[in-house]
Amino acid sequence: MLVSAEEMLKKAKAGKYAVGQFNINNLEWTKSILLTAQELNSPVILGVSEGAGKYMTGFKTVAAMVDAMVDSLGITVPVALHLDHGSYEGAKACIEAGFSSIMFDGSHYPIEENVAKTKELVAICKEKGLSLEAEVGSIGGEEDGVIGAGECADPDECKAVADLGVTMLAAGIGNIHGKYPENWAGLSFETLDAIQQKTGDMPLVLHGGTGIPEDMIKKAISLGVAKINVNTECQLSFADATRKYIEAGKDLEGKGFDPRKLLAPGAEAIKATVKEKMELFGSVGKA
Ligand code: 13P
Repeated sequence: MLVSAEEMLKKAKAGKYAVGQFNINNLEWTKSILLTAQELNSPVILGVSEGAGKYMTGFKTVAAMVDAMVDSLGITVPVALHLDHGSYEGAKACIEAGFSSIMFDGSHYPIEENVAKTKELVAICKEKGLSLEAEVGSIGGEEDGVIGAGECADPDECKAVADLGVTMLAAGIGNIHGKYPENWAGLSFETLDAIQQKTGDMPLVLHGGTGIPEDMIKKAISLGVAKINVNTECQLSFADATRKYIEAGKDLEGKGFDPRKLLAPGAEAIKATVKEKMELFGSVGKA
């Protein structure tokens, strides 16, 4: 059964570790992430961008697939199915489709409109027992067509949005989706510290988990980050493993062209990436 992310994130914040959100794109990714979470006895959040939802033929398909897979693989660790960077309409569609957690990214609206829309979604999610993530201060770079300039969040705006009753808060602190540029200034721990002081127990979310150095991840967790999103790193490891398989001519040997064989190295590579991240985030054994 899919669960809201509320309890796992409250525990993570109190226990000073972070739960990983790993984005899914297809059946193989979903299976790899679920099996790794189960093997490591770690809670996990499966992220679905609106683009990935469309690719998988719609949010209903995704919810049905994930729900059935959790059941048929015998997964017993807590699993939340979470809309990543949802629009207002996307959030409503995922609530309808059976997601257990929603991100409403209203960071591109003026703060008053972000607050009004977030407030409405807080009420709906509360009634249905779903967790809700809000965003203040945009995350830099591009995430599936959603482009952010990457400004740091204003701690007072963070407090205003946290007080609406959201479950978790994503705040821009200089983080960027995708690969970090050579001249990246790093995370602003000063901003993170100020946000954490204003928002107290609220679990904070760090987007752009690919390529952030280990020491920065650990420091962010010590300052209140309880959820870290990873997408690009799984994509890179999947692509790399698939390329190596093809370059070695394995797709031409025997039945190597069978998609179950062709996609297997990529699926294994995702397992390794997820394991590495769960160990780094400290969520192993915390289910
Ligand atoms: P990366 O693609 O940088 O790992 O970021 C993922 C993310 O933040 C999804 O919301």
